Amino acid sequence: MTVADIQNVAVIGSGAMGAHIGMVCALAGCRVTLVDVSTDALDRANTDLQQFTQQSVDKGKLTEAERSSAFERLTFSTDLAPAVADADLVIEAVVEKLDVKRELFADLDGLCPPHTILASNSSSLMPSQLADATGRPDRVVNLHFFNPALIMRCVEVVRGPATSDETQAAAVAFVHRIGKEPVVLKKEIPGFIANRILNAVRDEAIALLEGGVADVADIDRACRTALGYPMGPFELMDLTGLDIGYYVKKARFEATGDPRDQPQRSLAERVESGRLGRKTGHGWYRYDEHDYTEHDNMAEEI
Ligand SMILES: NC(=O)c1ccc[n+]([C@@H]2O[C@H](COP(=O)([O-])OP(=O)(O)OC[C@H]3O[C@@H](n4cnc5c(N)ncnc54)[C@H](O)[C@@H]3O)[C@@H](O)[C@H]2O)c1
Repeated sequence: MTVADIQNVAVIGSGAMGAHIGMVCALAGCRVTLVDVSTDALDRANTDLQQFTQQSVDKGKLTEAERSSAFERLTFSTDLAPAVADADLVIEAVVEKLDVKRELFADLDGLCPPHTILASNSSSLMPSQLADATGRPDRVVNLHFFNPALIMRCVEVVRGPATSDETQAAAVAFVHRIGKEPVVLKKEIPGFIANRILNAVRDEAIALLEGGVADVADIDRACRTALGYPMGPFELMDLTGLDIGYYVKKARFEATGDPRDQPQRSLAERVESGRLGRKTGHGWYRYDEHDYTEHDNMAEEI
């Protein structure tokens, strides 16, 4: 299997990630079937993609012809078997639950032709955790896209111990072909690269805050104005939701027992009291419907 052979792509899971990944592949010229167990999720994906790509046309980033031919190559389906029967590449983007993904990978192994590469978009599960659910561990790899996948250029290509050089090379070439930047991991590690670095920055920012060194706005300001970050770690946590990082840390602490992996007190207090960031109007900062109004005074709150 070389990248030239990858014409038919099936994306399983049409949520926030799968819908965009499907459209990225369709815009690059692949025939794509977007599969979900929920017709509502497929309808939502279709509507979101229509709106998103219309905005791209309005901004001059996409022509109407490119948009409509991509939609001609994109099919929405709840029927897994026919969707993957002639797939050269399957990209799995279903819920982040190991048992669900393993069951799906076992089903895919039985339904796909022998040459098909099975890729996961998981943010945390490694290829080795999925590969042995199949009879083709050499063709299992992670293609980790970032949110929103139609915009973000990075795709981490993660090989497991059983992934073949041929699969890795085809995955890297495919990422180039769909106009993204592959970041290659020579071996698997939980959290991969970008999220590990992001988590380290976030942990240090919270340690500085809890140590009384500076408040949230100044720590964010240092990251923006000295390090060139587009937004500070607290602003980013408010945007993505404090609960996401909290549950990742909690799961890691349960796995390792290492006190350094435990969610920090200031983070836990916020999540447990429903201060989850922009989506609840209050996280590290308070928000009105337009923008943040003020940050919390942590010296008083810790
Ligand atoms: N959200 C992010 O920022 C982000 C970023 C990178 C990677 N990821 C990874 O992408 C994957 C999907 O995340 P998401 O945010 O798009 O989730 P989501 O909850 O928005 O979408 C998941 C979709 O999968 C569907 N689904 C569940 N089980 C299924 C099955 N067996 N077959 C077909 N469809 C099924 C659900 O109906 C839902 O529509 C996860 O593994 C996550 O770790 C997420």
